[in-house]
Amino acid sequence: MKQLIRVGMLGIGNIGRGTWQALAMNHDRILESTGLDIEIVKILNRHPDKDRGIDIPKEKYTAEVGDILDNPEIDIVVELIGGIEPATEYMARALSNGKSVVTANKAAIAANGRYLVDLAQQNHVLIRCEAAVAGGIPILTSLTTALLSNSFSEVHGILNGTTNYILTQMTEYGNDYAQVLKEAQNKGFAEADPAADVEGYDAANKLSILMSIIFGAEVSPEDIPTRGITTIAREDIEYSLNAGYRIKLLASAKKGKKGLYANVEPVLIPAGHPLAAVSNEFNAVFVKGNAVDDLMFYGRGAGPLPTGSAVLGDIIGIARKLEKDSAYDIVPQLRYDSGVKFIGEGASKYYVRMTVTDRPGVLGRITTTFGQFGVSVEAVRQEAPYESGKERVAALIFRIFEVERPLLYYVLNKILNENIIKSIDNIMRIED
Ligand code: HSE
Repeated sequence: MKQLIRVGMLGIGNIGRGTWQALAMNHDRILESTGLDIEIVKILNRHPDKDRGIDIPKEKYTAEVGDILDNPEIDIVVELIGGIEPATEYMARALSNGKSVVTANKAAIAANGRYLVDLAQQNHVLIRCEAAVAGGIPILTSLTTALLSNSFSEVHGILNGTTNYILTQMTEYGNDYAQVLKEAQNKGFAEADPAADVEGYDAANKLSILMSIIFGAEVSPEDIPTRGITTIAREDIEYSLNAGYRIKLLASAKKGKKGLYANVEPVLIPAGHPLAAVSNEFNAVFVKGNAVDDLMFYGRGAGPLPTGSAVLGDIIGIARKLEKDSAYDIVPQLRYDSGVKFIGEGASKYYVRMTVTDRPGVLGRITTTFGQFGVSVEAVRQEAPYESGKERVAALIFRIFEVERPLLYYVLNKILNENIIKSIDNIMRIED
């Protein structure tokens, strides 16, 4: 039996275009295998004359958001305008009007997920956001269907394609960060304003959503310690290669005895780890379940069609429930009720690169100060000294045994303020 599902779409940018194209490519196959006749009936488009390179009948467009949100004929609203507002307000209105919602909006879900999920529950409808985390990779759906038989203790994701592309190019060609960023912008891989990507905020939003799905925790992205890739230099890349590591911007969360630990930052990971092989704009999510053990998902985290594939998957998932008249979660997919506490970062091994004057006794003073505060050095290496102005300086690279970051920072600041060293150039976590 054929069931018509009417979709209203807010926005027709890259993801909207990808969703339209994915449906155009696969409509008949979806109909054949599910009986669902999915039709995008209205699209919010405030610039209908702009050429978007796709053939969409003009009568589908509307400049009035109410034509979609308040339209009794629409079953599912797909929000693809991005940003926290007015996207949250629009989604809330759709849910209150008894429509299920699909969104690719990581910022709005990370900021207002609990509010929107509560609204969906009150109105007995669904909200899904597969496309918000790792684009085409079906991580949220997998975790909440096929993998429900597991309890997960950790998740590590390469969740941002722009930064992974930049780090890969720096590693493969030995180029500087600024040079690679510029190239990436010229090729359209990086935004003109790359801050959300390169400072790690985009990945923090995605990690916050994963923490809700995996641990039932409400952790605001603003509370997740987040550091980007802007301080990574050629020296760091060279060290990582020589020492058998790769540098990746990892979004990680772990469940310990006392609660959850999480952060987003560049991390030295062993070259043999499956995440180390994830190159260029690709994304990956690595999870550890108590039954399935290690599991890694790999794919495209951005791009119109891969993200459109995830949006369409959510539409089909909701439509299958609508068909049975049960478009409602007894337990919502995004959960915020486990009571598990977010603690912070926890202890880790660290990599510290600093610049010092090349003079006898400097290394001794640094290690003595580390020792006074119980910070233990695993290894140290000095790079070839060079002339800088009137003096000879050298880079020192320390590997520090497990330490809490605040203590490490306290000791490093002391070393810096006592003028034992010239500068601290980079600090990264080491994951062995
Ligand atoms: N800007 C993101 C990235 C894609 O570079 O991966 C959208 O989430």
